[in-house]
Amino acid sequence: MKRTRIAEILSSDKVGAKYTVMGWVRTRRDSKGGFSFIEVNDGSCLSGLQIIADEKLSNYKVEVLKLQTGCSIKAVGTLAGSPGKGQKVELQAEEIEVFGWADPAVYPLQKKHHSFEFLRTIAHLRPRTNTFSAVARVRNAMCRAIHNFFQDRGFIYLHTPIITGSDCEGAGEMFKVTTFDLDNIPRKDGHIDFVRDFFGDPANLTVSGQLEAEIYALAMGDVYTFGPTFRAEDSNTSRHLAEFWMVEPEMAFCDLEGDVSLAVEFLKYIFAYVLENCTEDMEFFNRFIDSSVIETLENQISQDFENLTYTEGIEILSKAKEKFQFPIKWGVDLQSEHERYLCEKVFKKPIILVDYPKEIKSFYMKLNEDGNTVRAMDVLVPKIGEIIGGSQREDDYDILVERIKEMNLNPDDYWWYLELRKFGSTPHAGFGLGFERLIQFVTGLSNIRDVIPFPRTPGNVSF
Ligand code: 4AD
Ligand code: MG
Repeated sequence: MKRTRIAEILSSDKVGAKYTVMGWVRTRRDSKGGFSFIEVNDGSCLSGLQIIADEKLSNYKVEVLKLQTGCSIKAVGTLAGSPGKGQKVELQAEEIEVFGWADPAVYPLQKKHHSFEFLRTIAHLRPRTNTFSAVARVRNAMCRAIHNFFQDRGFIYLHTPIITGSDCEGAGEMFKVTTFDLDNIPRKDGHIDFVRDFFGDPANLTVSGQLEAEIYALAMGDVYTFGPTFRAEDSNTSRHLAEFWMVEPEMAFCDLEGDVSLAVEFLKYIFAYVLENCTEDMEFFNRFIDSSVIETLENQISQDFENLTYTEGIEILSKAKEKFQFPIKWGVDLQSEHERYLCEKVFKKPIILVDYPKEIKSFYMKLNEDGNTVRAMDVLVPKIGEIIGGSQREDDYDILVERIKEMNLNPDDYWWYLELRKFGSTPHAGFGLGFERLIQFVTGLSNIRDVIPFPRTPGNVSF
């Protein structure tokens, strides 16, 4: 079934050329002059193509006049300049074929405003709306930009495992993977007998590809992963998913400063790429979702991000007049209200916080000489808070063993990770970018459930 995508037809503007278009009807209007206007969208771009169907078409009365929102059709015709408002060209149909009907009495998408909450309940149909098709295209463009960015800089794209036996963040927020019959779990000496499970050991879905990325960075130099990660934290917020995608570069011979500058360069690259390549969709978000979204991205590209230490951040927050729900003192983990206060009220731009207390960060982060803080960095942006978490990694064997014990983890579980510090250890660093949070920032969509096709959150695994 050969067809031309509407995006291509509209961008090449070849009046007089003959095209076959296939897509879904958005609207139909009938003119008294004996013809109908059918707006068809095929997902290739936000705009639809206007099709003029003349009453002379053999199926005009029996089919064309019955077309409704959601029907799928094929239209063959010639492109002509359009005298009407709103479009430059239209397709004058010589043939219209209906593939599938959509009964308006039961088809849930009609030409009116639907709430995002409602659309989440029909995730099988929501990509047929302007907002969700625009998100899908921007998400796709951002994936391409991510690969371009790293490939252009010589990074190797690495596939790290989804099923793993180790807990990267040491936080125990993992989904278990097992083939045990849950009604009859084998036990030995009062404990679950994992020897009899599929892998012969406890297994879980990965929370991060970092530990395995470090293995390859310490062989190939610069690598990155980009894949799904899973967290069983019971956070029902607009920025948490149980399944989300993370981009994780890892670089040998790199310290925290190098890590921070890569993160900034990376974010600016993505913003510029989207503004340049997703103009129509970005104008749509700017008009209907968040009227500051284009200006915000342009500002990020031209301005420096604010750099400060955790300790400086705490000083600013403890002097703030704002009443926080979570009280501030040195040593506490920053909550999203604190992160947003710093970004939105104090600096009015993205900030990079470094040197966090070791107690609130993961075991693998390099200990500073003060013995209290680690070489961590978080990138925080207005409206969302943390979008990137990274660090220079502890490369000293003895210190790392101590840190693992301090965090009540078992060094034996990390034997191979520790060996990397025994054989050819080097300074190295990396970060993890929450892909969906970045899409939220780029599109202005306030709920993370609306920037991933099929959100997984506590209590919801539909579709
Ligand atoms: O800060 P996190 O936990 O860092 C890591 O996982 C490191 N291993 C990364 C690394 O250094 N290679 O997570 C990284 C980012 C966060 O900044 C946030 O943007 C996102 O992942 N993230 C989530 N996004 C959506 N839903 C969740 N539940 C998320 N948890 C973290
Ligand atoms: Mg983090």
